[in-house]
Amino acid sequence: MPATEPLRALQALPADLVRRPLDFLSADHARQRTVSDLMEKLAEDSVLDPAVAEGVLRYLTVDMAAHVRDEEEDLFPLLRKRCLAEDEIDTALSLLAAEHTSEERLAKTVMAGLQRLIDEDLPARSDPPLRDELVGYARHLRRHLALEHSILLPMARVRLTARDLRDMAKHMAARRGIELSAPA
Ligand SMILES: [Fe+2]
Ligand SMILES: [Fe+2]
Repeated sequence: MPATEPLRALQALPADLVRRPLDFLSADHARQRTVSDLMEKLAEDSVLDPAVAEGVLRYLTVDMAAHVRDEEEDLFPLLRKRCLAEDEIDTALSLLAAEHTSEERLAKTVMAGLQRLIDEDLPARSDPPLRDELVGYARHLRRHLALEHSILLPMARVRLTARDLRDMAKHMAARRGIELSAPA
């Protein structure tokens, strides 16, 4: 089955969205749900869809790296600074940071595997350990972003200041080579 629609969802987000950094992160989480679906599709397909493999590989190589930096260098430190003790955010942040480390390992294996499939025009079924890694990473990622999406982003919307959000937007734009002109 062609995957044109989901692949379209993986295209770059509108540059201007970075002005609303929490909305940008939220839109990126939606793209990560698509990446998870596509990794499971790659694991199931009997013939490799190179456009899907390349789309997932590109997202993991470029976008995911920037997304994790957005969180670890901006969102998490700001939440640690602004949240109140009663928010009990520290446990969630420590868990999510540990998950970033394990996801980085999974992503490296999956990226190398996808590149091999593309080079050799083989489906993931030809490599059962890679199939397991694709499904395992997809599940891990879904769990991870569900926690960020249901707890972290709503908390950030309450606790972060307008200045925090402006600083975050500046850093996120710089990470992506986006020029932020003065608002009209
Ligand atoms: Fe994350
Ligand atoms: Fe995230």
